Amino acid sequence: MTYSRVVGTGSYLPEKVVLNIELASEVDTSDEWIRTRTGIMQRHLAAPEQTTSDLAFGAAQRAMAAAGITAQDLDLIIVATSTPDYIFPSTACFLQARLGAQRCPAFDVQAVCSGFIYALDIADKFIRAQSARHALVIGAEVFSRILDWNDRATCVLFGDGAGAVVLTADSKPGVHASVLHADGSQASILSTPGSINRGKVTGDPFLRMDGQAVFKYAVRVLDEVARETLALCNMHTDDVDWLIPHQANVRILDATAKKLGIDSSKVVVTVDKHANTSAASVPLALDVAVRDGRIKSGHKVLLEGVGGGFTWGAAMVEM
Ligand code: ACO
Repeated sequence: MTYSRVVGTGSYLPEKVVLNIELASEVDTSDEWIRTRTGIMQRHLAAPEQTTSDLAFGAAQRAMAAAGITAQDLDLIIVATSTPDYIFPSTACFLQARLGAQRCPAFDVQAVCSGFIYALDIADKFIRAQSARHALVIGAEVFSRILDWNDRATCVLFGDGAGAVVLTADSKPGVHASVLHADGSQASILSTPGSINRGKVTGDPFLRMDGQAVFKYAVRVLDEVARETLALCNMHTDDVDWLIPHQANVRILDATAKKLGIDSSKVVVTVDKHANTSAASVPLALDVAVRDGRIKSGHKVLLEGVGGGFTWGAAMVEM
């Protein structure tokens, strides 16, 4: 039996850090409101010329160095993003060219904040089917480009960044199980309802959200999908060494851990420093906790995504 294992992680954050207090000088908000409602203290924002593939490139280089592989070793590149460089070609194709990887399949996955879990699940299936040996899986976003900076209810919540993992075929897991779900009937509670038509944007090109509806939906499905994934691996919440839910809001993280009966000391939290980086948030948090020594070889890490669509999913990964 062939499984996939995470053999390297990496991340990249744009240089510019914006503190809540700095945001409050331009938007009608306060550090106190943002911190108490969300746990966010700062976010990184991309420079005007930086694209999603630039951030993805930084994260990919670090993950590949950690894995000890080169671009020539890659059999598959998947980039999860809702803020691609172009409508087409895919961000993954731009990244492939920049890395110097040749001919391997490269494509984007669009599942908003669940995108990395979707991409990880797909790459795991390629490896289990022996269609790929080394896969580069990335979540990368420049969400700052789709925010309405006059809408204080949304613009304070997000940041830019990228996180990456290298998955490699192995005789032992790795990814024990992953589960994906979607419910398109909930599209309206979180969307960017614009499109390009005859050279013009039609509709609204900014992110819109019903915050309270998203909050309730996220907490419910993060609990359900964690239990579903653990059941598939014959594991219990006690088996989880680290929980890494999508980093949307510290209150969502706390409520999810509480519902699952997982102690908050086992939850990796980066939303305070990165804000919500959508598809990048889970691999970014994973890389932070691997590099600071919390997550060690053999640890069982439960990754969870939830976002627009609505989409959600989870993966149980033994490092
Ligand atoms: N600063 C100051 N005041 C604000 C701000 C702000 N940035 N944003 C909203 N307010 C005001 C509102 O205008 C409202 O004022 P009013 O009472 O005078 O009308 C008041 O604060 C309360 O607004 P609510 O929207 O009811 O605030 P709520 O307590 O629901 O908190 C929040 C909003 C933080 C967005 C919350 O609903 C939430 O956490 N939702 C989850 C959504 C989320 O995390 N989305 C991320 C993307 S989705 C994802 O990644 C899965």
